[in-house]
Amino acid sequence: MTQSGHAGVFVSFEGIDGSGKSTQARALADRLRAQGHDVVLTREPGGAAGAEDIRRLLVEGDPDRWSPETEILLFNAARRDHLEKTIRPALAAGQIVVSDRFADSTRVYQGTARASLRPLVDKLHDLVIGIDPELTFLIDMDPQVALARGLARHSGEDRFEELGAEFQTRLRAGFLTLAQAHPERIRVIDGAYPRELVADRIETEMRDWLRARAA
Ligand code: TYD
Repeated sequence: MTQSGHAGVFVSFEGIDGSGKSTQARALADRLRAQGHDVVLTREPGGAAGAEDIRRLLVEGDPDRWSPETEILLFNAARRDHLEKTIRPALAAGQIVVSDRFADSTRVYQGTARASLRPLVDKLHDLVIGIDPELTFLIDMDPQVALARGLARHSGEDRFEELGAEFQTRLRAGFLTLAQAHPERIRVIDGAYPRELVADRIETEMRDWLRARAA
C-alpha cells in the first residue's frame, strides 16, 4: 500500500497536441508489460464507456459549442467516470495505470484559455476527483513541430488543434510552469529526440522510480 492508500501505480503522460505523448504512453505500457507488469493503458478525455461518450461531445463540432465553464464541467464529468470505472478498480487490483492525459490537461488547457478559470478548475478537481498521478511524464515539444504533426493526422478530432500555434505556445509554457511547481511528480522529457530514444529515457526513469518507490 502506498501513501495514497491503494496498491497500484498511477502514471500519466501530458503535453501539447501532437507532442507524441500518446505514442510514448503506449511504448511505456508495452515495455512494462514485457517486464511482467500488469498494465492498464487508458486515455482522457475518455477511458471508460460513458467518458468516451462525453469525449465525443468535447472533441467534435464547433470550437464555440460550449462555454469555458461548461467545458470544464464536461471534462470533470468524463474524468469522474474514468476514475470510477477504470482507474480506481485497476489501482485496487494492484495494476499500473498509464493514462494519456489526466487533470494537468484541464489545469493547463482550460486555465490557459482563461486564467481566471483556474480557481474553478482547482476547486472542482478537489471536490469531484481528488487524486493525481504519482508520476507524470511531460513530453515537451516545440509547438510548431507538434502542431504540424497533430494536424497531419486528420483524425476528425481537430477541434483543439485548430486553436493554433500561439495557443499551443501558451500551453507549452503552462505545462512547464506546472512542472516547476511539482518537480517531484512531473518529469519533463525532451520530445524532440527520435521516438525510440525518448521511450528509452522514459523507461529508465520509470524503472528507477519504481525501484525507489519499492525501497
Ligand atoms: P487528446 O485525445 O489527448 O488529443 P490527441 O490525442 O489528439 O493529442 O485530447 C483531445 C483534446 O482535448 C486535446 O486538444 C487536449 C484537450 N483536453 C483539454 O482541453 N482538457 C482536458 O482536461 C483534457 C483531458 C484534454
